[in-house]
Amino acid sequence: MTAPETGVTATGADTGPLRDRVLASLTTARARTTLLTGCVDGPDLTAQHSPLMSPLVWDLAHIGNQEELWLLRGVGGREAMRPGIDSLYDAFEHPRAERPSLPLLAPDEARRYAAEVRGRVLDLLDGTDFHGTRLTEAGFVFGMIAQHEQQHDETMLVTHQLREGPRALTAPDPAPAPLFTGPAEVLVPGGPFTMGTSTEPWALDNERPAHRREVAPFWIDTTPVTNAAYRAFVEDGGYDTERWWTPEGWAHVRRHSLTAPLFWHRDGGQWFRRRFQVTEAVPPDEPVLHVCWYEADAYARWAGRRLPTEPEWEKAARHDPVTGRSRRYPWGDADPAPEHANLGQRHLRPAPAGSHPAGESPLGVRQLIGDVWEWTASDFLPYPGFTAFPYKEYSEVFFGTGHKVLRGGSFAVDPVACRGTFRNWDHPVRRQIFAGFRTARSESV
Ligand code: AVJ
Ligand code: FE
Repeated sequence: MTAPETGVTATGADTGPLRDRVLASLTTARARTTLLTGCVDGPDLTAQHSPLMSPLVWDLAHIGNQEELWLLRGVGGREAMRPGIDSLYDAFEHPRAERPSLPLLAPDEARRYAAEVRGRVLDLLDGTDFHGTRLTEAGFVFGMIAQHEQQHDETMLVTHQLREGPRALTAPDPAPAPLFTGPAEVLVPGGPFTMGTSTEPWALDNERPAHRREVAPFWIDTTPVTNAAYRAFVEDGGYDTERWWTPEGWAHVRRHSLTAPLFWHRDGGQWFRRRFQVTEAVPPDEPVLHVCWYEADAYARWAGRRLPTEPEWEKAARHDPVTGRSRRYPWGDADPAPEHANLGQRHLRPAPAGSHPAGESPLGVRQLIGDVWEWTASDFLPYPGFTAFPYKEYSEVFFGTGHKVLRGGSFAVDPVACRGTFRNWDHPVRRQIFAGFRTARSESV
């Protein structure tokens, strides 16, 4: 690919730092998994808290099983450690709703299995050549497994959000932010930019390859849509007004009697929400969470706007109008630090709109990374030149019109699984995920 792009790569470097990076990423992921599965008791680990989610003990052993499959058996050529368990933890063989009725490893056994796998992986890592094969090049498959564990850590946090009972997790709140007084929207100039990546060593197959995209000039919200703004839509009868909704969205809100974001309820004149087993007033300045694509799309139409397309979102996040290059992140090429973005479950909620000025894009767009996943207008489709790697079941089987793309990551995503190029996807009806949105409009209207 000849597209101009930042050339940050670990390839060709001394492998000492790369080995340390792999080790740190795996260790950080396991600390999070241990916390999320250690803060509740056995019955809470094996229970199904929602038909949309797996029991936590399934995620735990699935994390270990994927690590065994790709690292110990794939890279290391080892024999299966627990012959026969693969099919229990194959996400395609058993839908989530079925998983509690499977003969799963019990919590202690699942913990022991994941720990045994990890111990052997650390031995394997000592002798691994990071230039041997495409799978191990620049530590790719180790990075893929660290990302996989962190993705399940976000999934497990969603399960915690859905769980009833006493509170199990706590974290400090993000710093309060002064009310954001900057411009409400920013003009992104038209013209080509480089979308996706061919050089980011741990980017997954759906982010590749880098390619040029033409984008017409458009305006995009400086911050994600807040609870206060979304509440105005609710109170203006947004959920009862057919013309704001697509036909599918309208059928969906009617059938399920949706009236507000998931976890919200009204008591007297005030709105409350449930957040990790605690009921609290809905904070007006925080980005709205737990809306599905249909709700985001309807809000945008009510506001006289629309959702940004995926190329628009990525151009707003990565394009540097001075150099014409695409950055790794809105703030530049440096890995995310706490001042840039609310990531990594350091907080169990989004930061107020307008937070993290250090993380803004060259054009001044804030909070593109972290806080809330942002629904885009786009279906999840392959980039020109896509090839599945290392397996079709990561991305390829999900391409099509059934999934919408989400960008930017939430407070629950670890930096290892969040990039300016990272693509997430889900069904347009999903609301339990940590998703919000921002809106856009074409310049010409
Ligand atoms: C990319 C978040 C949609 O959770 O289904 C986990 C990630 N793939 N195990 C998902 C994933 C295999 C995936 N998402
Ligand atoms: Fe998985």
